[in-house]
Amino acid sequence: MAEKYFEELELFSQKCSELIINGGAHLTVIACHELYRFLYPYEPFERFVNCDPVEFITRKISSLNSWLESSLNFIKFYSVNRIDMSKNPMEKESIERATSNLYTDLWNRFSEDTFVKESFELLSNRIPPTIIEDAVKGKVVLDMGCGSGRYSIALALANAEKVYAIDLYEQSYRLAQRLADSRQLPIIFFEGSFHNLPFEDGSFDFVFCNGTLHHSTSIKQGLREYYRVLRYGGRGFLYLYATGGIFWETRIKMREIFKSIPYEFTKDMLKIMGLPYNRFVFLDTWYVPIETHTSRQELEDTFKELGFKFTKIISANIFDLDYALSENIKDASIMWGEGEHRYILEKG
Ligand SMILES: C[S@@+](CC[C@H](N)C(=O)[O-])C[C@H]1O[C@@H](n2cnc3c(N)ncnc32)[C@H](O)[C@@H]1O
Repeated sequence: MAEKYFEELELFSQKCSELIINGGAHLTVIACHELYRFLYPYEPFERFVNCDPVEFITRKISSLNSWLESSLNFIKFYSVNRIDMSKNPMEKESIERATSNLYTDLWNRFSEDTFVKESFELLSNRIPPTIIEDAVKGKVVLDMGCGSGRYSIALALANAEKVYAIDLYEQSYRLAQRLADSRQLPIIFFEGSFHNLPFEDGSFDFVFCNGTLHHSTSIKQGLREYYRVLRYGGRGFLYLYATGGIFWETRIKMREIFKSIPYEFTKDMLKIMGLPYNRFVFLDTWYVPIETHTSRQELEDTFKELGFKFTKIISANIFDLDYALSENIKDASIMWGEGEHRYILEKG
């Protein structure tokens, strides 16, 4: 019953020794600690109760062995192909091109299922159903900074009459365009900047703008354009990063740290950690050229100045910060600051 485990243990020990010789002793410590803590019947930190211990620990050591193997390859590769940690290759690009390249690289890994199902679920949890029913269904919608086009698809699936979707470069929404064509969804994609939208005043019933303006050179110019292309009485959704708390401060600090680690190196390391592709989104935080954090006061002052009516809404997704803040958790604002900004805007 335990033979397989002992075979893996032998392998484990060999790989640890090899890592130590190759300068990876720190990874050996992580692996040994990871294995040892699960040798006990109860792991207090993860509150893990070991019900099928031999089967569990055999799987555990086997996955640790894969991790050790790829770590070893990684160390050997980088000791031969020395890289200059002081240079981030993305710095050579323009801000717009680097932003687009980063997101295109991340989204190209997503499956069709993520595009179609997950985005629709996220949309349905983040925008109140009455707004979808009254302001999206049967309406002409703009997806401002559509990126991969995942929400353009979700908006079409929410029965928008027509979705116009715009982002800087065609490369980011290529997959969505193919999906939309094959499913005959009413979406038209455009290349361009939301700082200078190629649409007449008042063209849209609904403007969807999710997580884009804070990655551009001017949030305010984006909001001016948002207001201009919305028709009177039209509504829209806006999502922006907020400020404060351990969460946002740590992100800012991490963005500093990653200035000294090239993108490809970090990506290789995440692969070694065995993370699924949808967890690679942290790369966005670490490497996107611009990430602006706005306070609630600052943002609502801008809404008033531009003429928007606004209502703050709370996401129903349990991993969204504004949801956590609404849940009466101890020290929530110390942890998550102002959370996240989600608003329904109206041109009144
Ligand atoms: C975090 S992504 C969000 C994409 C999409 N809204 C979503 O939620 O999946 C930010 C997007 O903003 C786009 N972007 C940044 N500046 C832009 C600009 N001036 N005009 C158009 N798109 C821009 C980037 O290319 C990127 O695709």
